[in-house]
Amino acid sequence: MKYDIKKLTLDEKIELLVGVDTWHTSSLNGKLRQIRMSDGPNGLRKEGDDGKIVSSTSMPTLSVVANTWNKELAYLDGQTIADDCVENDVDVLLAPGVNIKRTPLNGRNFEYFSEDPVLAGTLAKEYILGVQDKGVGTSLKHYCLNNREIDRIAISNECDERTLNEIYLKPFEIAIEANPWTVMCSYNPVNGVYMADNKEMLNDVLRDKLGFKGMVVSDWGAVKNGYKSVKANLSLRMPFIDFGVDEIKKGYEDGKITEQEIDEAVNYILELIEKVENSKKEISFTKDERHNNAVKIAEEGIVLLKNDGVLPLNKNKKYFINGDDSKSPIITGGGSAACKTDYKFKRLDLMLNEEGFNATSDQIIIRDDFVDYITCGHSSFKKAYESDGVILVINAPINAEAHDLESIKLYKRIEKVITETCKYNENVIVLLFAGSAIDMSGWIDKVKGVLLVGYAGEGVNEAIVNILTGKTNPSGKLSETFPLSLSDTPTGEDVDNLMVDRYKEGIFVGYRYYDMLKKDVLFPFGFGLSYSNFSYSDLEVKKLSETDYEVSYNITNNSDYDGKEVSEIYVKDVMASLSRPEKELKAFSKDLIKAHQTKRVTVKLDKKAFTYYLTAKHTWFLEEGYFEILVGGSSRCNFLKAKIYITPEEYDFSTHTVVKNGFWLYNL
Ligand code: BGC
Repeated sequence: MKYDIKKLTLDEKIELLVGVDTWHTSSLNGKLRQIRMSDGPNGLRKEGDDGKIVSSTSMPTLSVVANTWNKELAYLDGQTIADDCVENDVDVLLAPGVNIKRTPLNGRNFEYFSEDPVLAGTLAKEYILGVQDKGVGTSLKHYCLNNREIDRIAISNECDERTLNEIYLKPFEIAIEANPWTVMCSYNPVNGVYMADNKEMLNDVLRDKLGFKGMVVSDWGAVKNGYKSVKANLSLRMPFIDFGVDEIKKGYEDGKITEQEIDEAVNYILELIEKVENSKKEISFTKDERHNNAVKIAEEGIVLLKNDGVLPLNKNKKYFINGDDSKSPIITGGGSAACKTDYKFKRLDLMLNEEGFNATSDQIIIRDDFVDYITCGHSSFKKAYESDGVILVINAPINAEAHDLESIKLYKRIEKVITETCKYNENVIVLLFAGSAIDMSGWIDKVKGVLLVGYAGEGVNEAIVNILTGKTNPSGKLSETFPLSLSDTPTGEDVDNLMVDRYKEGIFVGYRYYDMLKKDVLFPFGFGLSYSNFSYSDLEVKKLSETDYEVSYNITNNSDYDGKEVSEIYVKDVMASLSRPEKELKAFSKDLIKAHQTKRVTVKLDKKAFTYYLTAKHTWFLEEGYFEILVGGSSRCNFLKAKIYITPEEYDFSTHTVVKNGFWLYNL
């Protein structure tokens, strides 16, 4: 190590453990290089010296990146944001977030990938590699169980060990394979202990079990007790707090922490400084290229949910665009993820006309529930009636940090604009700007088309136009279930009380819950339409070893359009001796399949695809028995199926007893 901890005094070491301002580490009076950190997940959000946010490329939010199901695009996303970081002297990007979408009410769902740990972790890993390959560090956040914003600083999130490991830690475990330089601990207590003080979670689990090797930074203001957090192996307290240093000093003087514990925390910071100094920072995209990357990701992250023959648009028809102003689209949610772009948006109708389509627009602003649709919709309905089709730009209630949503419905008046418009025109297409799942029960049957735009960054209008016109064949699929209503969700409408949120649904989160109860949903996890029609056939599962399998199958594009198809591989444990989800996503692939062509797709499954977390042993366990491999284009479809029987090579018979029906029963 270049920096020798022995050359630092105790006072200097303690000073280094607390940020020097909102975004920097201390330089110890010029002895060390300072580290500059900045948000955030969907573009650089750097606060300049004047306190203003600098402009950067506004990329699609991670919820949209997740809807691409495209590992290369997650990597490209990271690479693009890193260029803005390099250009602005940012050393560590405070992203990505991999918290699981436990409820659609969570105000930060737009910052997170999915309800499924494998999808979230796999894409986060690529994003981290993308950023760090450019010499910029990342901060994997918010570790952990920060699944709602309501009273995030106080509510203890409580869940059992199996659920913690199978659902909530899993995306961290997968993303940690990319060696993020830092992990950010969340505000909330976990099982009664604040994360910043939680030695078991920050040290024993994060380091020893999940294999994290970098530095732990607190979420901004998450440290409640300076010396306890040192004991818990948290290195950096952000941002600066004037009592931060004194509190740690007092803890040391009172014998609550040792110098060795302080050194351990300091060493991680010194290692990070060295990483920052040694990294070769590179810019590879021009500003225009970064914008084009934003368009490319948005195009694949927008999901076509309904299309009763209205898309792509027809050059011989007349379209009327109404709803929210398409010249100022919602491109991100609020809070620390809200970056600022200087990109100048054009109205959708003008863009469509440039492509040879016939579109006019009458943009009314219906962003909240206070605008009377009648006063802003008089002439609109006339124009709707005179057109062949209407495109409605619809904003759902905005998602933002530090707030949860109260409902997953659109504002009543906005629903009314949709249903009223449908009375005047039978070809209504909704462009839905939303940060998480929406209950569409009030209007879905009346409209002919729905494109889930999400918060798709500064490339959003180009991406929409390319999809509407058919230049781009939509290929996004949902990374979260759209339930029929909020009351159908595993968490329903409320948290337990103001102190504790018990994760009562256990491992049955997202599609695992709807599958278990055989509940109908509006749109299932993994669902998304295309202008192509794909069919699956010829599934073959080749055994490579007792626990490694190669799964291959054909996908045929039965259409005149070239198109990309996301294929999803689920595993069902047929003979488990404890309750397991009906099926779980274990792999996926996204492939371009030319019109009328067939492609053979191959993916691999290893032991992790079959294990569950055995609480009694505090570890993962592979149980002998039958498993089904299910392959298809959504979590609810006509799957191709294959059966395999696994006998684990190393089977610890001493801890198990066989019962008559052939199931293994734990003898623990
Ligand atoms: C957020 C983090 C963010 C940090 C710095 C916190 O309030 O939870 O995600 O990185 O602020 O802005």
